[in-house]
Amino acid sequence: MMASDIDQHATLQTKERYNRIARVYDSMELMMEGQFRHWRQKLWAQGRGNVLEVGVGTGKNRPYYPVGAKVIAVDIAEQMLAVARQRAHDLGVEVDLREGDIQCLDFPDDSFDTVVATCVFCSVPDPLLGLREVERVVKPDGQILLLEHVRSDHPVVGPLMDLLSPLTSRLWGASINRPTVRTVEQAGLQIESIRDLGPMGIVKSIVARPGRSTSTPQHYAMESFAGSRETEALTR
Ligand SMILES: C[S@@+](CC[C@H](N)C(=O)[O-])C[C@H]1O[C@@H](n2cnc3c(N)ncnc32)[C@H](O)[C@@H]1O
Repeated sequence: MMASDIDQHATLQTKERYNRIARVYDSMELMMEGQFRHWRQKLWAQGRGNVLEVGVGTGKNRPYYPVGAKVIAVDIAEQMLAVARQRAHDLGVEVDLREGDIQCLDFPDDSFDTVVATCVFCSVPDPLLGLREVERVVKPDGQILLLEHVRSDHPVVGPLMDLLSPLTSRLWGASINRPTVRTVEQAGLQIESIRDLGPMGIVKSIVARPGRSTSTPQHYAMESFAGSRETEALTR
């Protein structure tokens, strides 16, 4: 991705917002983390090979990295990385933490077996650019594992999220009304499965393959919060 495609102003704003809240970020998220911990663990259990974590934040996923896996973790906000570094130190583990922008990743094409992002594409100024970069750096037979909160389709909750999103974005950098599933498809990724992890379809676990994947799924599996399993045709 060309650096000139990036909205530099919005990107700097995002970086500054996360730098500002880095020291209190874990406390802000404490209530939700009780539930997220379990979802993080399940997502990371699917990780294999050499892994890139984008938007590592304060390193909350570190306890769930696959044992022995080679993981590189990137974030745009150096203060978030500082907290992640301290967390790794406290856990007595090593993490290859690097400052970088998902919208313009500093890795060659086809570098990683797995790319993971948790609660990231709500914050990336241009999520389509970011997901295209993910598509570029993952190997053709690699996988993308996402845990993301998205805009709800619920007729009341969805519009409410639209209303509140400018405020959440200003306060802590996260837009709460992103149509991330659609953006994943627009980026050329092939969705393999989507699982609703909570009510209203807000939190989703998404498994995808690069568009260049040899094992092209014609359908993807969707699992609703209630647990019913259905199969939906790809919309692209
Ligand atoms: C809501 S936090 C999530 C952090 C972590 N993944 C987690 O699950 O707790 C979003 C993170 O994405 C990072 N981020 C936002 N835009 C980014 C970009 N363009 N490149 C790299 N990181 C970015 C932020 O700095 C922040 O650390």
